[in-house]
Amino acid sequence: MNEENILEVKDLHVDIHMAEGLLTAVRGVNFEMKKGETLGLVGESGCGKSLTCKAILGINDKKCKPSGQILFDSEGLGRVDLLSLDQKGREIRSIRGKEISMIFQEPMVAFSPMYTIGNQINEATRLHITKDKKKSKEISMEVMRKVGIANVEKRYNQYPHEFSGGMLQRALIAMALVCNPKMLIADEPTTALDVTIQAQILELMKELQKDFNMAILFITHDLGVVAKMCDRVAVMYLGKIVESADASEIYANPQHPYTRGLIGSVHKIGSKKEERLFSIEGTVPLAMNLPKACGFYDRCDVRVEGLCNRAEPELVEIAPGHKIACFNCPHEACREQRARVEASLAGKSASTPEKDASDTAGRQKDTVKSIPGNKEDGRK
Ligand SMILES: Nc1ncnc2c1ncn2[C@@H]1O[C@H](COP(=O)(O)OP(=O)(O)O)[C@@H](O)[C@H]1O
Ligand code: SF4
Ligand SMILES: [Mg+2]
Repeated sequence: MNEENILEVKDLHVDIHMAEGLLTAVRGVNFEMKKGETLGLVGESGCGKSLTCKAILGINDKKCKPSGQILFDSEGLGRVDLLSLDQKGREIRSIRGKEISMIFQEPMVAFSPMYTIGNQINEATRLHITKDKKKSKEISMEVMRKVGIANVEKRYNQYPHEFSGGMLQRALIAMALVCNPKMLIADEPTTALDVTIQAQILELMKELQKDFNMAILFITHDLGVVAKMCDRVAVMYLGKIVESADASEIYANPQHPYTRGLIGSVHKIGSKKEERLFSIEGTVPLAMNLPKACGFYDRCDVRVEGLCNRAEPELVEIAPGHKIACFNCPHEACREQRARVEASLAGKSASTPEKDASDTAGRQKDTVKSIPGNKEDGRK
């Protein structure tokens, strides 16, 4: 594990055993996070973002089986593979909530309606910091103040239903931060909130990150939010990362057709309100009985018939820190991958004429198009 990293996720798979068959919802995810940095994990609903977070925290549903490696630089345990720990054991519990905390999309679900907010924040403080009742209450109240909850003495004794959505999300952030974690996983933390409150919460999270110097894994389907929050971005589609780069690079120079679609969906500052926003047609398919093909094939407007529907591209580095998994990209590393795969497919076709994914799905033949707008491409 690299010294600078707090987390390294290697070849993470999450299999879900369903009555209908095996669903591999996360299909070989690799990423790393440096201490103190914010990584955005972006993609539409159903791409496998939440399952990735749950695997890190060891809070997988019974039928979800993660495999691979999740290396974490723990204070108590040293460098440890989180997947090797017993999900209910003492070791992962010493990390969960203390060294790695999580904020969920729905604060109402995270809090029990039966106990006061103060009580629930205090539970984490007592578990991980001090058994001293008075001290622990003071620490809990202090962090409530830090996240902008006014009149804490009164608020401490109130129940979740007495809090507004935005206030409850602040309380949830307080609960996540009370133990001063080294890493925070924020899974769509502002999706349920209205735009003004969303902006306040994002601002708050940025401030707190500075104060606490923690790494944040920020999960969202909204690239607009990522622009405000993240140092680096990993774009996820159908259980895989299809592009990753610095946030500024992703916006200035997106390469994967899916990333381009996502960026096109973000309302540009200064664009006319009535202008129709670009959106990607179709939905994320279910990762069950997948053909050997690029996962984005059905929705891609630059797919290459006979290639993208017969093989799946791997992530290759096209510039320092910028990776993409696509055959139809003009960068050298992508062209090399494409040539290699085409040669292998040609060899296979010569020996055994095989039925490709487009035949089985009854898709129409496409002409070869290139990714529009690529300067290196020379074609439009
Ligand atoms: N407990 C579960 N049982 C069955 N399918 C699940 C379960 N959890 C997630 N899935 C499926 O796995 C895929 C990825 O889910 P998830 O990680 O929640 O996506 P995201 O957070 O990106 O929206 C989806 O197709 C979802 O329906
Ligand atoms: S061009 Fe091919 S490999 Fe690239 S995203 Fe489209 S379908 Fe996938
Ligand atoms: Mg989710």
